[in-house]
Amino acid sequence: MTDILQELEARRAVARAGGGAARIEAQHGKGKLTARERIELLLDEGSFEEFDMFVAHRCTEFGMEQNRPAGDGVVTGWGTINGRMVYLYSQDFTVFGGSLSETHAQKICKIQDMALQNGAPLIGLNDSGGARIQEGVASLAGYAEVFQRNILASGVVPQISVIMGPCAGGAVYSPAITDFIFMVKDSSYMFVTGPDVVKTVTNEVVTAEELGGATTHTRRSSVADGAFDNDVEALAEVRRLVDFLPLNNRDRPPVRPFFDEVERIEESLDTLIPDNANTPYDIKELILKVADEGDFYEIQEDFAKNIVTGFIRLEGSTVGVVANQPMVLAGCLDIDASRKAARFVRFCDAFEIPLLTFVDVPGFLPGTGQEYGGVIKHGAKLLFAYGEATVPKVTVITRKAYGGAYDVMASKHLRGDVNYAWPTAEIAVMGARGATEILYRSELGEPEKIAARTKQYEDRFANPFVAAERGFVDEVIQPRSTRRRVCRAFAMLRGKRLSNPWKKHDNIPL
Ligand code: HXC
Repeated sequence: MTDILQELEARRAVARAGGGAARIEAQHGKGKLTARERIELLLDEGSFEEFDMFVAHRCTEFGMEQNRPAGDGVVTGWGTINGRMVYLYSQDFTVFGGSLSETHAQKICKIQDMALQNGAPLIGLNDSGGARIQEGVASLAGYAEVFQRNILASGVVPQISVIMGPCAGGAVYSPAITDFIFMVKDSSYMFVTGPDVVKTVTNEVVTAEELGGATTHTRRSSVADGAFDNDVEALAEVRRLVDFLPLNNRDRPPVRPFFDEVERIEESLDTLIPDNANTPYDIKELILKVADEGDFYEIQEDFAKNIVTGFIRLEGSTVGVVANQPMVLAGCLDIDASRKAARFVRFCDAFEIPLLTFVDVPGFLPGTGQEYGGVIKHGAKLLFAYGEATVPKVTVITRKAYGGAYDVMASKHLRGDVNYAWPTAEIAVMGARGATEILYRSELGEPEKIAARTKQYEDRFANPFVAAERGFVDEVIQPRSTRRRVCRAFAMLRGKRLSNPWKKHDNIPL
């Protein structure tokens, strides 16, 4: 019996050693942790339960039968994050470069199936050279099996991808289907075809970092939702994100103890809006001053900064925040901002996370760049996302709510449940100057008359009361009491039940 137990331990030790000491050293040399070290940091201590440690590939091409490492380049299983269950896989770059074989894919599929069946998030730690070249179509089939499960799990359990090394070819498309992608700066990259292929086909010379590094994907392509300095920080931030999320679409987001009075008054918010309507201010100040303990988990911080998205807690419960940012492009909606916010709103709605919207928007960004790029279609995404969302929706207009953007930003007419305005709100078809210039075109040569007309328009429309008279704004509130009003609104909405007409699925403009 002792021998048998020893053999088990010996086999386990070999499996845990992955691709061996030299390759582990090379991994560390690149500033990267190993697959198992990452799991230890991600999960609660001692909570990891591994599956399929002894699975080996079945490839007999290219002499592969001589090299069948236990585990086949991926560590899979489940564990807990702050006591809440998650399933995960962690690719081992020290074994065939973390490349995906038929059996490697089967290991991932097994835990995907379990995550879906048992209703817990799926986290993928990706570090892979893509399809296992020696296996040919078998590895392509393996990828498609993984993609199919990602698709079925979308909107059922949260799926999070962390890119912690190269992700080439098929390795990018599974993350692309998941809800959130995070990257590690300087050691991870994602592309469909690498720099060598790019050079051959298009003659472009580009580095891997320029083509698919963290800066590219968080600032330009928006493929990634965030980037962190190293593996340790990335994993700690994933733990923080998981704390905000429900385990599945039938679960409620976790309610955490909070140490911040609902009644907290923020006098400084009374002077947040500058005297001049064209002077910007930082909307994040409002978000932080409303959130429990000023804790805000921002999503896509470096992309489309004219809109801010992320998670806060109110009375301990998760709330998704969408806010126009007057500091960037005056808070205009454009293609990028609309896409970013629409995806966030849909995530929240899929997982029953209530939505808080702060509005200060002068309209859609004009110009050929926007129109040629299809701002009509992309702007419609945000409109569609808000309109179809059935979660509790609370909106606060702090300053401008002009034109189509007024409608789009969780207005009463898109089934906003509670719509507040600050006394500084200006709800109109457009700004006073632009409106006057259109209405009184014949007087454009007479500046005094135009100034008087502008003042007249401002007096009439640069306030929240015209909307409030019609009930489009439920109440005009004091800025200082925003936290209390918003918390009470969400508390009132806890029993909200609303469903959309039956359909197979909608046809959101893509
Ligand atoms: C088998 C692979 C591999 C792969 C890497 N390795 N990629 N083995 N299949 N796809 C092995 C290497 O042979 C090497 O083995 C070890 O992993 C480490 O690789 P290195 O090249 O030494 O590491 P590095 O210099 O860091 O470069 C990493 C890399 C590079 C950028 C990922 O290996 C690379 O370009 N790999 C190929 C990427 C690729 O084209 N994949 C196929 C994509 S097509 P030893 O034994 O020497 O340690 C695809 C189609 C799917 O994925 C489509 C689905 C939609």
